[in-house]
Amino acid sequence: MTIATISKKGSFSAAHRLYNKQWNYDKNIEVFGKCAYLNYHGHNYEYVVSLTGEVDKKTGFVFNLNDLSKILHHLVINLFDHKNINIDIKEFNSINPTIENISIFIWNLIRNQIRLDIDIKITLYETQNNFVEYYGK
Ligand code: NI
Repeated sequence: MTIATISKKGSFSAAHRLYNKQWNYDKNIEVFGKCAYLNYHGHNYEYVVSLTGEVDKKTGFVFNLNDLSKILHHLVINLFDHKNINIDIKEFNSINPTIENISIFIWNLIRNQIRLDIDIKITLYETQNNFVEYYGK
């Protein structure tokens, strides 16, 4: 059995605000910095979706990257691009849209579309220097 990891990069632009509604404004600024400003702000998010699994003998693929591209366009880009994450995506009405929580959300969306013998990893960049990796654990 030969195992490999393939990855697909992509990006979307979206607005968000990080805050805990149980805290006052000053406490939110203290914890979340500029991301807690009241009127939202944008990030150019970049993601890498990595799939690890057996290389199929017939195709030489772990997973067809064209199919992965369609899945990501349908599930991720259509949902997030040019949206206000807090307002437009109902799951984030009550969950803080940190890169951790966005990655977990994306991981779960993709998990439903990929067969279970393939492991999924999401890497999500909010800025050039700030990113998260999530493996589904
Ligand atoms: Ni932010």
